[in-house]
Amino acid sequence: METVTTISDIRKAVAKAKSDGKTIGLVPTMGALHAGHLSLIEAAKTKCDFIVVSIFVNPTQFGPTEDLDKYPRDFETDQAMCKKTGADIIFAPTDKEMYPIQNLTWVTVEKITENLCGKSRPQHFRGVTTVCTKLFNIVQPDLAYFGQKDAQQAIVIQRMVADMNMPLEIVVCPIIREPDGLAMSSRNKYLTNDQRTDACLLYKALIECEKMVSNGQRNTNTIRTIMLDVLGRSKNITPQYISFVDCQTLKNIEVIESKALVAIAANLGKTRLIDNIIVDAGI
Ligand code: PAF
Repeated sequence: METVTTISDIRKAVAKAKSDGKTIGLVPTMGALHAGHLSLIEAAKTKCDFIVVSIFVNPTQFGPTEDLDKYPRDFETDQAMCKKTGADIIFAPTDKEMYPIQNLTWVTVEKITENLCGKSRPQHFRGVTTVCTKLFNIVQPDLAYFGQKDAQQAIVIQRMVADMNMPLEIVVCPIIREPDGLAMSSRNKYLTNDQRTDACLLYKALIECEKMVSNGQRNTNTIRTIMLDVLGRSKNITPQYISFVDCQTLKNIEVIESKALVAIAANLGKTRLIDNIIVDAGI
């Protein structure tokens, strides 16, 4: 498995793979890889013949007070994991390679970036959609793989690709969880032992929600109150939002009538975690 750091080298490698008739899969990451990322590589292997993993901690998606500087970086471990899982090449550009001059061109998806995480991270999705557009233009994959853990990100990217007629398919893969239910995330590394123990309450709250919906409860305010009680079992958890939204428009839902995305964001100390499930009142 090769690692390249320049746009010209990844373009050459992909051009060669395409000329050999290979289908190109891209797994965009910011490194600090875990089983969730590896599941994206595994999924890519089922449909693609040449798997590119990009590792780039994208500065433009972090707010001024966020964790850009301390975001976990462990390139050698990432390389070993990619190799073992069967990636063909890592594209690991520097900031200068991706943003050689001041960036004046941004890709912005409206409306669906304003709710949920967009409320507290106003520039975040603009950074994500811009860097993903750049990665798609550089790598020109046939398919690109994203995790359901970042549900809003996946919906925003799918919408951008549809609106802009980008010639690739977005594949969204299921959340991979620790044995106690905590969704895998590079940011879990920040948690202290106590916070880590309590972090599984996010998933427990979502499971509680699922149970209430399957028992016929449809009122999101009632469900939210019970979910807040679950999170309230730990003084380490400060909920940021528990939202019930339409899976496409991400508009808030008062009464669950069919499918809904139930999304949680909460702080454990300085670490912000997110998680979600989809519930279906129609079945
Ligand atoms: O989900 C992530 O790791 C990042 O937001 C992504 C998609 C790699 C863009 O920087």
